[in-house]
Amino acid sequence: MKKLLSIFTAFAMLLCLASCGGEATNDESPSTEQPLNTAKTQQEPASDTQEQQSDGSELVVYFSATGNTRSVAEALADMRGAELYEIVPEQPYTNEDLDYSNDSCRANTEQNDDSARPAISGSIGNIDQYDTIFVGFPIWWGTMPRIMYTFFEAYDMSGKTIAPFCTSGGSGISSAVGEITGLEPSATVTEGLQIGSSNAADPKDELTAWLGSIGL
Ligand SMILES: Cc1cc2nc3c(=O)[nH]c(=O)nc-3n(C[C@H](O)[C@H](O)[C@H](O)COP(=O)(O)O)c2cc1C
Repeated sequence: MKKLLSIFTAFAMLLCLASCGGEATNDESPSTEQPLNTAKTQQEPASDTQEQQSDGSELVVYFSATGNTRSVAEALADMRGAELYEIVPEQPYTNEDLDYSNDSCRANTEQNDDSARPAISGSIGNIDQYDTIFVGFPIWWGTMPRIMYTFFEAYDMSGKTIAPFCTSGGSGISSAVGEITGLEPSATVTEGLQIGSSNAADPKDELTAWLGSIGL
C-alpha cells in the first residue's frame, strides 16, 4: 500500500512537473509575442516615420522668407507623408532686405542680377533617394528668388519628377516653371501651383486639386 502511495505521489509530482513545463511553454508565448510586439513597436514609429517620409520617395523642399510658403510646404508634407527640407539662406533676409519698394534692397538687387546665387546653409545629403520632389518658393518680381537657382544648380534631378508650387500676391508660377525646366532639363517638371499669400495658412483644398490634376 505504501509502495502504491509512493508511486501515486511520484506520478502526481510528474504531472505537476509536466504542468510546470506547460507554464514554461506559456512563458514562451509572451516571448513569441515579444518579437511580434517588438515588430509592432517598430512598425509604429516606422508608420509614424511613413507619415513624415511617405515611402521614403517624396521630398518637399521650400524657401520662405516670411512664412507663407512654409505654411503651404508643411501642409503638403503632412498630406503626402513626405520629408520636409527648408532652404535656409546663409545670410537670412531681413525686413529691410525684402522691402521691394526700395530699388536697392537686397531682394531687388539679387533679382536684377542674373548671376546672383545667394548661398544656402547646409545641403540635402541623400537627394538620390527621392523620386518626386515638390519645390516651393515665393514669387519675387514675377519669378522664383535667385536662391532657388542656387538650389537647382546644386543638384542633378535627372529622372525625377519636380512639382513646383509658390505663394505670391497674385503673380503666377509659369515663368518659374519655365526656368526650372531649363535648370533641370532631364527631370519631369509638372504643372505648377500658385497659392495666394492670404490662402497660405489653409491651402489643403488647393493642394488636393493640384495633386489630382498632375496625377500625384
Ligand atoms: C522682393 C519681393 C518681390 C515680390 N514680387 C512679387 C511679385 O512679383 N508678384 C507677386 O504676386 N508677389 C510678389 N511678392 C510677394 C510674395 O510673393 C508673397 O508675399 C509671398 O507669399 C511671400 O512668401 P514667403 O512668406 O514664403 O516668403 C514679392 C515679395 C518680395 C519680398
